[in-house]
Amino acid sequence: MELTKPEIIDILKDDSQNNRLFKLADETRKKYVGDEVHLRGLIEFSNICRCKCKYCGLQSTNKSIERYRISPDDIILYAQKAVELGYKTIVLQSGEDEFYTRDVMCGIIKGIKKLDVSLTLSIGEKSYEDYLAYYEAGADRYLLRIETTDRNLYEKMHPHVDFENRIRCLKDIKKIGYEVGTGCLVGLPNQTVESLADDILFFKKIGADMVGIGPFIPHPETPLKDADKGSFTLALKVMALARILLKDINIPATTAMETLNPNGRIIALQSGANVVMPNVTSTEYRAKYEIYPGKICINDEPTKCRGCIESKIKSIGRTISDTKGFHSKKS
Ligand code: SAM
Ligand code: FES
Repeated sequence: MELTKPEIIDILKDDSQNNRLFKLADETRKKYVGDEVHLRGLIEFSNICRCKCKYCGLQSTNKSIERYRISPDDIILYAQKAVELGYKTIVLQSGEDEFYTRDVMCGIIKGIKKLDVSLTLSIGEKSYEDYLAYYEAGADRYLLRIETTDRNLYEKMHPHVDFENRIRCLKDIKKIGYEVGTGCLVGLPNQTVESLADDILFFKKIGADMVGIGPFIPHPETPLKDADKGSFTLALKVMALARILLKDINIPATTAMETLNPNGRIIALQSGANVVMPNVTSTEYRAKYEIYPGKICINDEPTKCRGCIESKIKSIGRTISDTKGFHSKKS
């Protein structure tokens, strides 16, 4: 279905038809990507970050978190354990930590690719040469949310960088040949419904292969500590519209959704999502990767997380994919 910006705005503003919207997104998901759910094993390998994103608990000015960095060998070991648990895709995520130079990252990527898995990187803004080197080392996908397409809001939220560079990064990632993951936060202070409509249209324009939408959750050690949290329902609506417009892309049921609603990921899977990213690092790191408070599963070991989400997925009549889950059906 094609929708204009005014039509998207009307849908976002009017809550009377929400159930119809979620049903249509679920039908679109079933038609274009089927009942399989792709599980991606998430390794949060460093919470050290040079950035100052105002909403994020990992930002460099937060002095109250204990910082950690997992060694390259241990990252590969975590990936190995995830493969043993049945994961076919590994996602490496971190703050922008300069310890992991281009060579170090390429070593990690090559080590993980020997395990016959697909690999997603989510490590922030890099140069074209870095992105190219990671791709040539074997990385398949890159996840970099635009966060918001409202340039003014973007610049207020990210005083250390500029909007044009974020766009440049996404264009470089696409040009190099990665599957491109992007997405936005829903509920940032002064974010408008009009700009959320622009975000959805942007996902289409940039040719996103995956889109992750999450509600903003205020972190007490950030400048936005007193801001209101984002709305679960509005985030779900943005996600449902992304499914309806982009049809066959991959859409994760995000952890932030479950933080705001105890059944959030399952509701998301029934409103357009087809991917879940369980954490595969051990409990010693989980609580320290505190992007926002109340993150789920911080005391659970990887085996438990996998078992828990598998049974929830099966309970709603969906199956777990045993492919690498590419958008372009390379698996
Ligand atoms: N450094 C990488 C980057 O910037 O893409 C990846 C790590 S960053 C912590 C991953 C995502 O967390 C961001 O894209 C952002 O949307 C989300 N995030 C950060 N702070 C958040 C908050 N307070 N509430 C909800 N999501 C948040
Ligand atoms: Fe760097 Fe959030 S500010 S990961």
